[in-house]
Order: sequence, then C-alpha cells, then structure tokens
Amino acid sequence: MPAIPPGIRGATIAGWGTALPPKVLTNHDLEQMFETSDEWIVERTGIRERHVGGTTTGLSIESGRKALDMSGIDPATIDALILSTTTPDRVVPASSPAVATELGLRCGAFDINAACSGFVYGLVQAHGMIAMGARNVLLIGTDTLARITDWTDRNTAILFADGSGAVVLQGTDGPGQLLGWDLDADGSAERFLYSDIGGYIQMEGKEVFRRAVRIMVDSATKSMRHAAVTADQLTLVVPHQANIRIIQAACERLGIPLEKTVTVLDHTGNTSSASIPLAMCEALDDHRVAEGDLVLLVGFGAGMTAASAVLRWGSLPARLGAVT
Ligand code: ACO
Repeated sequence: MPAIPPGIRGATIAGWGTALPPKVLTNHDLEQMFETSDEWIVERTGIRERHVGGTTTGLSIESGRKALDMSGIDPATIDALILSTTTPDRVVPASSPAVATELGLRCGAFDINAACSGFVYGLVQAHGMIAMGARNVLLIGTDTLARITDWTDRNTAILFADGSGAVVLQGTDGPGQLLGWDLDADGSAERFLYSDIGGYIQMEGKEVFRRAVRIMVDSATKSMRHAAVTADQLTLVVPHQANIRIIQAACERLGIPLEKTVTVLDHTGNTSSASIPLAMCEALDDHRVAEGDLVLLVGFGAGMTAASAVLRWGSLPARLGAVT
C-alpha cells in the first residue's frame, strides 16, 4: 500500500468510549467448567478474568453514546457509522442501523467484518470517507464472542469475551492524525480460526500463535515505513489483546520495549473487534498520550487478517483530559 498522498482532508479522534457487560467470569470460574487452572491460563495467555453478556447492538449503543458525548459533536453532523463486528445480532440486517437510530443519527450505517483486525480496517475506511467529504464518522468495534464460544472447550473458552469500544473521528482541514496504515488478508489460513454460521469458534492455537507474531511484525513494519517513523520514536503501541506472549514476541522482534504497550487482556480477555479500542481508550483515560506523540495500533485475526496504523496524536480540548 503506498503512503498517504499529501493534501487530502484528514481526521482526529475527538471522543471515545467503552462498554463491558457487568458479568465477570474469572479463571477460577472456568476451573468449575472444565479441567484447567488459573495458573495455566495466566502463564499461557496473561488473562485473569473477562466480561461476558449483552448484545452487539446494546454494547455498541453504550460505547457509541459515550464517545459522542465526549466529543460534543452534533449527532446531525455524523455522516457515517461504521460498526466492526464478527458477531452481529442477526445475519440480516446488520447491527449498525439499529445502533445509529438509537443514537439519534441520520446517516449511512454499515457493519464490517475483519475479525480482530476490524477496528483498524474501520479506522482506515473512516479516513477514506472523511477524505471524500464526510464531516465526522462514528467508528465502533464490538464483539459478543461468548455467544459463539463452546464453554466446554478449554482450547478456546479461556480466551474469548465480550466488549465494545468507540471513537468519533472529526474531519480536519489539515492532514489529521493518520500518518501510515497497512491492511492485509490471507484466505489460505482461514482453516486455522473460523466459526460456521450457527457454530462455535474452531481454532488451531499453535498455528494461529505462530502466524500472529509474523503478520503483526510485518504489518507494523509496513505502517511505520509508510509513516516514515521508526520504532524508537513511538510513545505507545496498542496491540490486539489476544495473548500476552504474542504481544511480547511481536514487540521483541519490532524492538519495542513492553512498557510502551498497553495491555488490558488480563481483565478483558480477547474481545476481537473491541480489543484495540478498549486498550486504546484505557491508555487515553490514563493520560498516556500527549500532543504530538506517535501511536501504533496493530492487530491480527481470523481470515487471517492483519491491520496496523500509525497516528500522530493531535491536540485535544482540556476537557478531554489531554496531557500537554
Ligand atoms: N488448561 C489447562 N491445560 C491446557 C489447556 C487449558 N485451558 N489447554 C491446553 N492445555 C494443555 C494441552 O492439553 C497440552 O497438554 P500436553 O502437553 O499434556 O499435551 C498443554 O496444555 C499445552 O497445550 P498447547 O495447546 O500446546 O498450549 P499453548 O502454549 O499453545 O497455548 C493457546 C494454547 C493459549 C491457545 C495458544 O496457542 C494461543 O494463544 N494461540 C493463539 C490463539 C489466538 O490468539 N486466537 C485468537 C486470534 S484473534 C481472532 O480472530 C479471534
């Protein structure tokens, strides 16, 4: 993918919000459901507990409303809602129109499915729409994987969970935050991670692990090259929250110290489309990003897909908690 051409209309993140269902399932709860242990799960994945429950529509409304409220942007000027999800509430229609209506939006609304890479796919799509004249775009990543997880299968049930994260992208006259991006997909690896309609997630964990590290490193390297930045210039890395060992291995290969990453998987598990926005929002709430900082988002998922983006953090009004 070539670098972003100069002179196009860009975007900045003007508000964000998250939603997690209230029900918490700990590793100790899983010990009652199949043969496993808290120690094994923590050591092999980094996950201690996760939230389960709710619907994709309901969680999306909650995170989307928070992001809109924080941005202070008039809902009438939102020109598109993009909902990244692998778990829509129905096969037809998409979940996004109901979310848009509930949030009082009058605009195009559509779902995209690129599994755990979907939020970054949506981010790139939103920037493309803003470059084509959209004023503001609401981007939401939500998954309710508990509904497609076999809770007797210890191979997958230790990993997956539910959640939602949203951002409002505000069009700017200047270049905006996005400096470089990369999207990738390899359908030949589909068999390693999939769920048939009406079925449960099937996964070859070791193969997914091996490929995940490789494609995260590859995608992040391309995005950094397009953005003309190096790993040592990054302030924050927001990786897909699948497994702490995947994050460690990818960061080691990229030459990025683990302290620069944000990890929330210990309390969220793998929430697929919601994983990157949940982690990013937590870092923003913790004031880990200041004006001018470089942030790398990088994900991988079923498909197998990969996606990454480099952002230069823009100035934010003080009410949004910017560190200056
Ligand atoms: N509890 C206890 N023991 C277990 C469990 C469990 N839940 N699962 C497997 N074991 C046992 C196995 O039976 C095996 O025992 P053995 O040595 O006696 O044969 C041993 O533990 C090792 O099993 P492995 O499968 O080799 O464990 P591994 O270290 O590969 O970890 C895991 C498994 C955590 C699934 C890892 O492979 C992984 O994280 N893979 C990536 C998965 C992933 O990221 N998926 C999401 C992709 S993103 C998306 O699109 C949704």
